[in-house]
This record gives sequence, structure tokens and C-alpha cells, in this order.
Amino acid sequence: MDIARTPSTPDGNPEMADAAHEVTSPVEIRREDYRPFGWLVPQVSLDFALGVERTEVVATLEVERNPAAEPTHVLHLNGDGLVPLSVKVDGEEVNSWTMDGDDLVITLPGDRHRVEVATRIDPSANTQLMGLYASNGMLCTQCEAEGFRRIAFFPDRPDVLSTYRVRMSGDKAMFPVLLSNGNCTAQGEGAGGTHWAEWHDPWPKPAYLFALVAGDLVVRKDSFMTCSGREVELGIYVRAGDEDRTGHAMESLKASMKWDEEVFGREYDLDLFNIVAVSDFNMGAMENKGLNVFNTRYVLADPETATDGDFDGVEGVIAHEYFHNWSGNRVTCRDWFQLSLKEGFTVLRDQLFSQDMGSAPVKRIEDVRVLRGVQFPEDSGPLAHPIRPDAYREISNFYTSTVYNKGAEVIRMMRVMAGPEAFRKGCDLYFERHDGEAATCEDFIKAIEDGAGLDLTQFRLWYSQAGTPRVTVRVEHQGDTATLHLSQVVPPTPGQPDKQPVPIPLKVALFDRETATHQGEHLLVLDKAQDSFSFRGYARPPVLSINRGFTAPVSIDSQVTADDLVFLAAQDDDPFARYEAMQELVVTHLKDAVAGTLSAEAREAGGRAIAKALGAVLADPALDDLMRGELLILPSQAYLAEQMLVADPGAIHAERQELRAALAQALESEFVALHQGASAVPYSLSAEARGARKVKTQALIYLAEGNPQLAAEMAAAQYRAADNMTDRQGALMVLAGLDSPERTHALLDFYNRYKANPLVIDKWFSLQAGSLHPHALDHVKALAQHPQFTLKNPNRVRALYMAFAVNPAAFHAADGEGYRMIADLILELDPLNPQTAARFVPPLGRWKRIEPGRAGLMRAELERIAGADRLSRDTHEQVARSLG
Ligand code: TRP
Ligand code: ZN
Repeated sequence: MDIARTPSTPDGNPEMADAAHEVTSPVEIRREDYRPFGWLVPQVSLDFALGVERTEVVATLEVERNPAAEPTHVLHLNGDGLVPLSVKVDGEEVNSWTMDGDDLVITLPGDRHRVEVATRIDPSANTQLMGLYASNGMLCTQCEAEGFRRIAFFPDRPDVLSTYRVRMSGDKAMFPVLLSNGNCTAQGEGAGGTHWAEWHDPWPKPAYLFALVAGDLVVRKDSFMTCSGREVELGIYVRAGDEDRTGHAMESLKASMKWDEEVFGREYDLDLFNIVAVSDFNMGAMENKGLNVFNTRYVLADPETATDGDFDGVEGVIAHEYFHNWSGNRVTCRDWFQLSLKEGFTVLRDQLFSQDMGSAPVKRIEDVRVLRGVQFPEDSGPLAHPIRPDAYREISNFYTSTVYNKGAEVIRMMRVMAGPEAFRKGCDLYFERHDGEAATCEDFIKAIEDGAGLDLTQFRLWYSQAGTPRVTVRVEHQGDTATLHLSQVVPPTPGQPDKQPVPIPLKVALFDRETATHQGEHLLVLDKAQDSFSFRGYARPPVLSINRGFTAPVSIDSQVTADDLVFLAAQDDDPFARYEAMQELVVTHLKDAVAGTLSAEAREAGGRAIAKALGAVLADPALDDLMRGELLILPSQAYLAEQMLVADPGAIHAERQELRAALAQALESEFVALHQGASAVPYSLSAEARGARKVKTQALIYLAEGNPQLAAEMAAAQYRAADNMTDRQGALMVLAGLDSPERTHALLDFYNRYKANPLVIDKWFSLQAGSLHPHALDHVKALAQHPQFTLKNPNRVRALYMAFAVNPAAFHAADGEGYRMIADLILELDPLNPQTAARFVPPLGRWKRIEPGRAGLMRAELERIAGADRLSRDTHEQVARSLG
């Protein structure tokens, strides 16, 4: 397929040009085609005359020939929907330029020039939320990955680093606050009620880290003293009225700054660090140098409106963006194929930070749950790609769980193999070698090899091969020797039919089944297709505990008996392994139940074994409630489906619910007692109180299946008594799935209480769209017509439709109506916000792993989308890959 983009003329209409983005691009960009840019751009000046409907931008670039590149006289500047209003070289208007599609191409006579291009943009018409856009009357930017080209013509690639001077002017009443990267160097009043500010960022950066914010904002200020004694001024900017909910974000920021100094030796490098909260945002947050821009949901939190999970989300994302200052900004990426260089590493850093701030084992379990529930399915589906991809059409589609979460796991494995101290030496070397540079994943691996003293030759396969390795284990016992026979398979993925074995670090322990003790942990590295490891001193066949702490992102087939799993669930001294045994017990049982291979007797025996293990979890006084809460969570529908070659979502859901009902009936009084005990704990953010809230709602979730009447009463009481959002939302979630009068009442009460708070209203939409209520699909249809629903706000769209797309029951309605609804959404959203629209394709893309009836319906919806007249590059790429 080809594109015919109308070349714009210098006096063309900027609004017309914007439509060009909607045309599908056929261009595949390949990692192997990387070439350095022909020019260096050491300095950039940007001058903005701000207006919500009309902003004029003059960009001045100091360019000089790049000695490391092929000599050229042509300066190719990316643009997206821009029209050059004037083009000057060394101060003189020139006409030695042409358009190449959306890009501006200027021929330059010499080796060093000043290039000045003026453009005009309409932020109010920017519904993609990339580039400069208006949100709630304020103006803000989002430039990663390729949004800067929607603001100014520029070499919009991460290996072109410049220092920026920014000047902006605008109406003082409308935009009392004017922010950009770095330090504010001057400000003043202008004519006609305007004012202006100048900002200078001394650190060279790629264009994707540029940011500007202008609006009527209030600020919470604080300060941080760095380890070398420099005082950094901190500011969190929000809409008036939200300032009281920024305390947790500020505490999280200060904790992150301190932690990065202590654990990674990284000090902050500017006098100012600002955060701005924006309610219309495509992702979680953005690490622009010295001016992080956040989705409001990762800044605002107080007990009345935010759950414990929301508090953790704020802490984790604040840390993540702050940590990017070193892993991403000081050392950035050479090209977008290296995205995991900054994202995988920064996710690992934020995970380790959160482990240190709260319960380390619980955080590890949560991270593994996300990996297995989101990344494993991605790795086994049509969109599977290595953490360092080889080709893409639209880079926004590669901000994936694979690049982020598997990327973090891959670096975590290096840390496990090296040990934390040696790993830290490798990180130090990486920062030292590449500070101020645009680096590659290979640079990172080399620095860890050299600094930590590891040989990562074969380990590099983790960067190039997609797919979740599957490890099979068999324990053999003879005399006093236990032998582990291990084998691995890396499954084929699209474009990668044949795989090589990867090094898999596995922590193992062998338990004596009489004494429930082991002789110490071993770290085995399985780096061949098959290998065996022997251990002496075992008079009896030991119980195997493997992949303790989840040292490797693999799936394990250990063929452990139900009795041994019950043993490990109750006795293992590694909390993760204990959780794992509990999960495995349930997964094995449900797999057999869904396959129909269970006799009535075996089904009952399996249920009894699980009830016994769960009963032990409920009764164990040595467990804290946060951990107990984790052990109570049943494996998700997504993870269960992942265990089956072809999944029947209806059958999985039915079996999972039936098991839950049986467990709840077997343990009803225990669950009621758990709920009562936990209800007596007063609200605070202590681990104990948070644990109490967690098990309280878990108990209700079980009882809702076993005794709906009782659960409705208890949930209604919890709802009424709630003095915090965790209890209130937990109760409402349970009620939303029940067919009871309390449901209607609580939903109405919740809406009326919080109708002025968008983040809480998002929860109200989500709870209904994700509920197991038999009419959830009709509820979603009605909610789409609600006056508070809008396609223009990504948080609201995700609240309704993402919750629905992961609803294990309603989305998979056997007649395909759920699939149709998501396809309709994609088609309607794509012209407005392609990035967000494309994120709804993966739920439909799983069709090959779903039973034939539903698979046909899903595929038909993908084909309907593919047949649309105009599709964004984002959605087109995802649909094409999903059908292929
Ligand atoms: N770099 C951001 C992060 O991980 C991700 C991000 C924010 C992003 N906004 C985006 C990626 C828009 C693509 C498009 O912290
Ligand atoms: Zn990031």
C-alpha cells in the first residue's frame, strides 16, 4: 500500500495539514538501518506566543555537520501536520527548501548554520494529546516518542542532543504559570495583559524530553537537600482545589530522591524539580527534564478518594519518572529500538524502590502477577516481540509490557546472577561511561559485564528472542542423592520460528518433608536445552521449591503433586514460593476441571486440598494480613487462559467461580471472622491497617460467591461504615456484581458523593464495566451514554472500556456483542486519539488462542476494523499484526 500525502505549501492552512496524520503509513522502520544523523544541533531556542487556539512557534537551531556521519548538505527535519510559515538560514529568508511528506528538507551550503523556522499550531484542536495541547484551559506538551515534530520542525530522534532555551509569552490571566525544563532565567510583563518567561536547561537532551506548561495552577512547594549539600526546590502544580491531595506525591518524590542516592549513588542535577498534574493524558506520566508531566491519577491521593492501591501507584510512578533523570535523561536511547534500555531499567529501579518502601515479598508478588497476567499473554500472542524489537511501524505501539516489565525482569536476572553489590558496580560503570550520551542496550550489557564481572554472551539472547521460556523439571531420588532434570523450550513467535536456549537463573531449595527444613538455597543456571543437577544428603525424596522469588521470567512445569503443593503453601520459608504453591494448586485443579478430565471424586478431592491450604492461610498467625491477602487471590482469568493452548473463556470463568463458591462455603465462618477482625482495625497507612483492608475485601469477594445474601449485607455495612476509599470501593465492587437492592442504592450514593471528582467517577465507571453482574454488557452500553462519559478523556475511556475488555465474563459474551462493542469503540476513537484507540486491539487479537466460535467472532471484528476507510498508523499496525 502506498501513501499520497499532499505536500503543504508555505502559506497552506495548518488545520488542513493536520488531517494528513490519519493516512496509513506503510513504512517499516528497522533497527539494522540505523545511521547517525548528518547534523549536530548543539543549541535550540524556542519562542512561543501562546494561545489555546493559536500558538506561534519560532524554532532556531544551531546546526553543524556531524563528523561521525556521512557528509551531506541536506538537513531533513521531521514535522507532523506543520506548515513552515518562514524559513531562514543565517538570518535570511530562503527558498532552498522542499517538503517530503510532512517533513521539511533544507539544503545548506556550508558546515555550520543557524536555521530558523516559524510555525503555527492550534492546541485546542489537538485531540491526539501528542505535541502541544489544551487540557482544562491549560496548555501542556507530550513529546515522547515523536510528538515534538507536532510543535516544530526538528530532527525528532533521541540521538540528537541539544541544550534548550525557551521563551514563552501569553495572557497573564489565562496562564499565570509558565514552566519549561531547567531553570527559569528571566520573566516579565508584556503589552496587553501578557507576561513572559525564559527557561534554560543546561543539560543536553533529545527533543522527546522537552516540555512546556502554561496555565492557572497552584503549587505545593518543598525542598530537598542532596547528598552533596545542594538544595533543590520541589514543586507540584495542580488545579486549584487539588493542592490538599498532593502530600503523598511530595513525600514519594523526596523518598525517591534519597533512595536513588543511597541505593544507586545518583544525585539530582538541577536546582529545580517540578511536577505538573494533567487530567487529559495518554499514559501514566512523562519524565521531561526537570519538569515531569503526570496523569492526575498518579499525583492526587488522599484517604477519602484514593485506595491503598492508588497510593502505591502514585509512589511507584513518581519514583519511576524521577529515576528516569539518570536512566533515560542523563543517559538516553540511541534510537527507539533501545526503549527497554531506559524503560526496563527504570521499571526495575522503581520496583526495587517500592520493595524497600513497603513489604518486599508482597511487591514482588504484585509485579509477577502483572507480568503473568499481561506480559505472558502478549509474549504468546500475535503481538509478541523481543524486549529490543527489530522493526516497527508506529513506535507508540511498542510501549508494551514486554519492553517495560519483561525488560525489568531481564535486568533483574543480571542482578540475581551478579549479586546486588557487583550489579551496582556494573550500573556505576554504565552511568560513568555513557553520561551525556545516547546509548544502546548493548552498551548496558557491556557495562554490566565489565563492571559486575559477568559473561553475558549467551544472555544477550534475552534481548533478541521473544516468547516465554518453558522449563520442565523432574526430581529423581536415589540413595542419598536428589537429581533435578531440567529442560527448556523457547516457543516460536511471529517471525521467529526457531529459538536457542537462554540462560535461566533459578533459585531452588529442597525441603525435607518430615522436618520442613532445607539445606540452603542454590542458584542454578540452566543454559542448555537439558541439564541435570545433583544434590547429596537426602535420605528421603525431597519436596522441590523452584524459581523462588521468581528469579526468572519463565513458566515452570514441575509436576509437583497436590500434597507437595499443600506442603509448600503452608511451609515454604520463601514467601513468593508459598504464594506460588498456592497458585499452582489452583491452576492445576482448574486446568483439569476445564479440560473435563476430572471425575466427580477427583474434583471433590482437589477442592478439599485447596480448601485445606486456604484454611491454613486463614489460620496462620505468623502471616501478616498483606501477605495473607495475596495468598487469598485466585489466579486471574488471563493467567488461567494462558495455561491452555486454546481457551474457552466461558468454561474457565464458570469453573473459577464454582471453585470460589465451594471454598467460600467450606470456609464461611472463617471468612466472616476474618472480615470482622479486620473491620475493627482503624484507618491508617500502616502495613497492619492496609493488610486489614485487603483481607476484608478479599473475604467479601469469596462470600459473594458462597453466600450472596450474606455478602450483600456485609458489603452494604462495609460501604456505610467506610471512612476511606479502599473500604468503600471494595464494598462497592462486591455489590456491583450482585443482583441486590443494595447494589442500586450504593452505586447511586457513590455517584452523588463524588460526581465532582473525575478520578473517583472513573472508579464508578470501572466497577460497573468490570463487574461479574449478568447484565454488565448492557450497563456498559448505558454508561457510554452517561453525561459524564466522553471519548476525549483517555482516563474516562479506559475506565469504561478497558475495564470491560478485561471483564472475564461480559467481554466474552458468546454472541460476540462484547467484541463488537470494542471494535466500535476503536473505530470511533481512532480519528480522535489513535494512540489510545490502538491499545484496545490486543484484547481482540487473542483470537487464535480462543475456542473456535468466539475466535471467528473476534477475527470478524478485526477484519471490520481493517476494512475501515482511514485508519491511523497505530491502529493499522496492531490490527494487521493481529490478523497475520
Ligand atoms: N516515558 C514515559 C514513562 O514510561 C512513557 C510515556 C508517557 C509515553 N507518555 C507517553 C510513551 C506518550 C508514549 C507516548 O514514564
Ligand atoms: Zn518510563
